[in-house]
Amino acid sequence: LPSAVAMNMSGMNMAGVHGKSSPLPKPVFSGALPIPPVYTGVMGRDKVREFHLHMADGHSVLSDGLKTATWGYNGAVLGPALRIPRGQPLRLYVHNHLDQSTTTHWHGAHVPGTMDGGPQSLILPGKTWTYGYTIDQPEATLWYHPHPAGRTGPHVYGGLAGLYLVEDGTDRRLGLPHHWGIDDIPVIVQDRLLDAQGKLVYMPQAMDVMGMKGNRFLINGRESPVLHVPAQWVRLRLLNASNARLYNFALSGDRAFYVIASDAGYLEAPVKVQRLLLAPAERAEILLDLRSLAGNTLALRSDSAAVVPGLSLHPMDSDHFDRSNFDLLEIHVGSATGSAGRLPDHLVAIPTMQADAPSRRFELRGMPMDKMSLAQRALENALHNGPAQMSMGIGRQPLFSINNQYMNMQVINQRLRLGSTEIWEVYNDAEMAHTFHVHGTSFQILSRNGKAPPAYENGWKDTLLIRRAETIRFIAHYGQPAPDDFPYMYHCHMLEHEDNGMMGQFTVS
Ligand code: C2O
Ligand code: CU
Repeated sequence: LPSAVAMNMSGMNMAGVHGKSSPLPKPVFSGALPIPPVYTGVMGRDKVREFHLHMADGHSVLSDGLKTATWGYNGAVLGPALRIPRGQPLRLYVHNHLDQSTTTHWHGAHVPGTMDGGPQSLILPGKTWTYGYTIDQPEATLWYHPHPAGRTGPHVYGGLAGLYLVEDGTDRRLGLPHHWGIDDIPVIVQDRLLDAQGKLVYMPQAMDVMGMKGNRFLINGRESPVLHVPAQWVRLRLLNASNARLYNFALSGDRAFYVIASDAGYLEAPVKVQRLLLAPAERAEILLDLRSLAGNTLALRSDSAAVVPGLSLHPMDSDHFDRSNFDLLEIHVGSATGSAGRLPDHLVAIPTMQADAPSRRFELRGMPMDKMSLAQRALENALHNGPAQMSMGIGRQPLFSINNQYMNMQVINQRLRLGSTEIWEVYNDAEMAHTFHVHGTSFQILSRNGKAPPAYENGWKDTLLIRRAETIRFIAHYGQPAPDDFPYMYHCHMLEHEDNGMMGQFTVS
């Protein structure tokens, strides 16, 4: 149980602050958007670039006028954006100054299982875990966050997350905006629930099967901030780092924007959209054309309007939106600059892959809703047993399964051959939307219910949203080893689902 995060043990009296029951008054946008610093590391004696990350607690102003106990990397909340040069040897030291054990996982990075920071790589309080590896994968906006078994939800919720920028010079070569915090803007979106004293509240309703959702929206750890940018092409790197909420990103006035990158790399060409749906852990880079908007104000918002024709959400899925529209970030456009920038017609080439092994199928299931309320009551009873029980994870009681198996660290669920390329088929048999994330690789979505995915998903991905009754096929190459004692994970990235059983382990050897 993170000291930073208050759990409401009774599961009651939170109705007044819970998002769905009573939305807060419309927020006033003020205060500059915080920009996480870029951390390039330091070249060590042995020509290995070294990074030090310190996980510790601190205090943050997440919302104007409130002081909140949070967790962060090298600071009170979130963490620096790591600049990871492709092809150079790295060493990363992760120091745990917290009062409990956790891990740090490099989400989307092609690193061996021993370096992946999954549930097996537990860093005890006061200890340091050292990672050494070289990244060789396309330029992309990845991220890092804790991954301890059964406690990933509260640990990320406490504030531990940061960006991991794999760089190989592609953005400069393409003439994309790349001035950090000026025209290249990180946008880490998270929802949080705070009590009147500013304390983070986690899972007030013991077990909302949808997962933890708050009613305040933080961008880079700050509610309702303002971003000042010049009147030119501007790049936003969107990361949905929320535990369980979907965002259907839009600009005020239904202004169009261009998607240039999916989770793990650039698209082949920019895709013009008016809405962009991102599930937890998904990323996208977008370009905004602000050239003619000097002096104007725009809002980056989430709304419930249709995403892509034919790919709308079921009401059970869209419950993730609370069926409402909300502003996330106010964008003030300043005067024009000398270099307006441009929109490239073409970005990168994405190779086509051929499978060379049999496909695998994964079926996602949740407990049926009627049984769910029983389970909920059982959990609420369990919660009365106090923090010791809680620190084992809200879960304890598996609720969500993959192939009718619940996460078990003692079980390897799948064994893959090193160097193989496989098609995985995921079917969502649950009553709500889920996500599916695979460690150690990037994949390409081949089809959603037999049809091509929307154009903005036509690139490298590592996490996907899967609606109820949907079947998705994707292909990936497994080029990094993962042994039995440090297997990779595949799981739902709605963190309370992951913590409650919806995860499996696989080896690559
Ligand atoms: Cu972002 Cu297995 O995690
Ligand atoms: Cu899920």
